[in-house]
Amino acid sequence: MDIFEAIRGRRSCRDFLEEPIEREVIERILEAATWAPSPLNAQPWEFVVITDAEIKEKIFQEGNSCKHWGLEASGWKWLGKYQVEFLKTAPVLIVVIGDPAKTGLDAYMEGGRMGYQHGCAAAIQNMHLAAHALGLGSLWYTLYRKDRIREILDIPKEKDPLAIIVLGKPKKQPPAPPRKELDKKVRFIG
Ligand SMILES: Cc1cc2nc3c(=O)[nH]c(=O)nc-3n(C[C@H](O)[C@H](O)[C@H](O)COP(=O)(O)O)c2cc1C
Repeated sequence: MDIFEAIRGRRSCRDFLEEPIEREVIERILEAATWAPSPLNAQPWEFVVITDAEIKEKIFQEGNSCKHWGLEASGWKWLGKYQVEFLKTAPVLIVVIGDPAKTGLDAYMEGGRMGYQHGCAAAIQNMHLAAHALGLGSLWYTLYRKDRIREILDIPKEKDPLAIIVLGKPKKQPPAPPRKELDKKVRFIG
């Protein structure tokens, strides 16, 4: 698949078939992650690949309670309709764990340790593009308490569970949410 086609065609998927995904396919997606840029090539990521139904159920419970908490805290009506069932039904969840110790000189600069998060974000986007190129759907999911995810997956407290990548065959291709006009977002100088 052409890179521009992959970038434009990738969508956040929230409705998956329950069919399993082969190990080799998951490994190709993880390998794509590792080719992302990172500060000082520190490669600040680790991955936990979950196919176990009990663990998925625990993560679902966490996502669901965060959703209810978020609804109360924000009052955002759309959250009432938002369902996180995909955390149970998708065949694979990949937790991306960042290591704040593996950051660049940003550790000493304004804003603090952000480089490891940026590196992990680049790795995550590679995973989404690779999944899409392989005909899979994926979602960048972040609605959970990090401590609860650490507890469920036995992750040490100094590591940062930054995102869960939900992965599987899509039930349908979601519509593309509109993008803002480029000329409102860019300034050319020179
Ligand atoms: C950092 C980050 C966090 C996100 N967290 C969530 C999430 O918790 N739940 C969710 O359903 N989508 C989440 N998304 C997906 C966005 O909602 C989605 O990318 C956006 O609406 C644009 O849609 P598209 O990905 O189909 O282009 C997240 C995306 C990013 C980059």
